[in-house]
Amino acid sequence: MLRYLLLFTISTVTSEPCSFLYDGQRYDRTAILTIKGLPTNLAINPNNKDIFFTLIDLDSLHNDDEQTKMDQYFLRNGMPMKIDNVHGQAAAVDAKNNKVYIASDDGLNVLNKTDKAHFLSLKDEDIVMLYKPEHNDELYAVIYPDNEVYSINLKKNEKKKIDNIPCAFILAVDANDNIYYECNAKYVKVLLKDFQEPIEFAGIGRNTARAMTVDGNNRVVLASNDGLYHLKPDSMIPRKLMNLDYIPSGITFDGDDMYLASNGVIYKYSADECE
Ligand SMILES: *[C@@H]1O[C@H](CO)[C@@H](O)[C@H](O)[C@H]1NC(C)=O
Repeated sequence: MLRYLLLFTISTVTSEPCSFLYDGQRYDRTAILTIKGLPTNLAINPNNKDIFFTLIDLDSLHNDDEQTKMDQYFLRNGMPMKIDNVHGQAAAVDAKNNKVYIASDDGLNVLNKTDKAHFLSLKDEDIVMLYKPEHNDELYAVIYPDNEVYSINLKKNEKKKIDNIPCAFILAVDANDNIYYECNAKYVKVLLKDFQEPIEFAGIGRNTARAMTVDGNNRVVLASNDGLYHLKPDSMIPRKLMNLDYIPSGITFDGDDMYLASNGVIYKYSADECE
């Protein structure tokens, strides 16, 4: 009892309400999931608040003789659920059409009513990353082993290679079809729509970029080892939005709510109860 009280006191002291600043606004933080492993590739479905993530087994990640083990999950009503009929590696949500796409090592799938991955297209392709912008019918996919980027038109079911991006490990696309990406832990760049040559962002350390998404204000947000940055299409210098005291592994937004993952945990940041 005494021990419990002591722990309780310490944890309330270390996280005062509304003590997290994102772009000057105060946020509260709660851990909505603790789980063994590294949750990555966060994506929320704003229609039902399901949060999709790929859970990486860290023991296998650190063992060179073994292929990295990962599973595709979603968090619903606080419960993690595994999508167990496919080797899921990433998910993307088409909020407008209420569809969830699951990337696997053997093609593109869509989540059906019974929460199973139902095969759609790109048989034999090892898809390692997906991004769905809100404003159009394109889904962006990164395909292993060369990590080339493709845009897939979901209406016409046509796939097109993005020629001017040599490789991508994480990516996001803004409302003007500018593509932001990180390649080989070397740099973070943007390929502006109709441009031939990507532009590199300054001030971001090598091998520090961890995840990218677009926030509720249509800003491209990079989660890096030292915090969150706003990547703008018209400035090489990103703007710092938030400092973090942990290394993030995934990020997604639902309006003003922000979700960040790190080793063993998914946090929700909310400004609702803050001034
Ligand atoms: C969902 O997809 C799985 C896998 O393809 C399939 O076996 C199942 O019948 C589908 N369920 C529905 C309701 O479509």
